[in-house]
Amino acid sequence: MPSNSISQIFGISTFGESHGHALGVLIDSPLPNIDFPSDELLQAIQRRNPQLSFTTSRKEPDKIEILSGVMDGKTTGMPLCIIVRNTDARTVDYEAFKDVFRPGHADFSWFQKYGIHDYRGGGRSSGRETITRLIAADHVRAVLGNIKIQVMTKSIGSLSAQKEGYSSKNPFHWPDPESYPDLLNYLQNAKLSQDSLGGILRVKVSNVPPGLGDPIYEKLSANIAKAMFSIGTVRGINFGDGLRLARDPGSLVNDIYKDAKLTTNYHGGILGGVSTGADIEFDLVIRPVSSIGKEQESINKSGNPCKVKISGRHDSCHIPRLIPVIEAMLSLCLADAIQYQKLISSEHQDLSGFRESLDKLDEELLLLLWRRRKIVSQVKLYKEHNALPPKDIERDKEIFNRTKLIAQELDLDPELCSQIIDLTLKISDK
Ligand SMILES: Cc1cc2nc3c(=O)[nH]c(=O)nc-3n(C[C@H](O)[C@H](O)[C@H](O)COP(=O)(O)O)c2cc1C
Repeated sequence: MPSNSISQIFGISTFGESHGHALGVLIDSPLPNIDFPSDELLQAIQRRNPQLSFTTSRKEPDKIEILSGVMDGKTTGMPLCIIVRNTDARTVDYEAFKDVFRPGHADFSWFQKYGIHDYRGGGRSSGRETITRLIAADHVRAVLGNIKIQVMTKSIGSLSAQKEGYSSKNPFHWPDPESYPDLLNYLQNAKLSQDSLGGILRVKVSNVPPGLGDPIYEKLSANIAKAMFSIGTVRGINFGDGLRLARDPGSLVNDIYKDAKLTTNYHGGILGGVSTGADIEFDLVIRPVSSIGKEQESINKSGNPCKVKISGRHDSCHIPRLIPVIEAMLSLCLADAIQYQKLISSEHQDLSGFRESLDKLDEELLLLLWRRRKIVSQVKLYKEHNALPPKDIERDKEIFNRTKLIAQELDLDPELCSQIIDLTLKISDK
């Protein structure tokens, strides 16, 4: 399963790990004529870069190198490949963890999965990987139009802001200037006691057009949740009024319409998986980072108990670095939803727009064929392994019967659709 790729529309793949040569992104079908890199991207990279004493002391210049797809500062529409080199990766910091699983990190579970453990800063489970997401998201800025994404911190550890709202005046987006010095003290204490802190963030997206999201497996809420959970340390998401929705009766939390408009937004701008046009709002639960200097119990690769103290360069509160990553992943998710919506909406489309939609659909059909062939090759292996006959005539009949039924329901020619399935089976077998 290609698990390092996102966006069927743009075909985005990211690669690289904490202590490899470089991290990178390859965008297969980027938008043409986009200024690249934008000033906003350079600023976002700065925000994601360690800058406060509460974040990691690894010093990376995070310089973008364009390998392809840009001419005279504009994307050409050809595959866009960008890398960022790792220049301050000190593997020596991690020698002590060669055979040890850091408590709470991805080491243990990834070792169970792959049988090999990239101990050099956690490899691809390191937060360093997220820089590529910022680069990918920059390219979709034009698709988002005037959509505005705001991330604010509601609480860090046990300290809650006394005010709500958005402020980008400090790197934590802490809305409450009065208690900001308390926050800095609190973080300093966590750092001194060699511990780490998480928090709760509120995310608000304004100027979202209604109609984004595709039931049932591409619901906007589902895709936003997936995008958020793809970021390390995200532990929960609550749309709209969140836990209140579990407590209060429907009569108090049903969103109300008046004069063809919603007058309330208890559900955070998405109903039935489709945007309502109201602001999309949700809370994110962020765990504290696992790498801490405090001594902890763990085990080594042989399963024997050992003690661990993590002396590398880590965030004691990574929230400032997380904020631009959240913005980037939301941008990518919304851009995909907007492009999908264009595929099914005839508004504002000229012939080239319709052709673009058709080309995308054809591409998706081919991608589906490619995926099908991969699964068929796994089925073949499974059958060989279990000494099962390669052909199953009854199963083929079933496929054709089902195809005809579905074709009839969709008002498509059942005979032609059967021929397509026949070809599909042949292609999958090649
Ligand atoms: C921007 C960013 C910075 C991070 N910095 C650190 C860090 O310094 N130390 C650490 O242990 N984890 C850090 N993490 C979190 C790990 O990547 C994450 O905890 C790990 O991959 C395990 O995933 P999980 O927390 O989702 O289970 C960071 C994550 C992000 C997104």
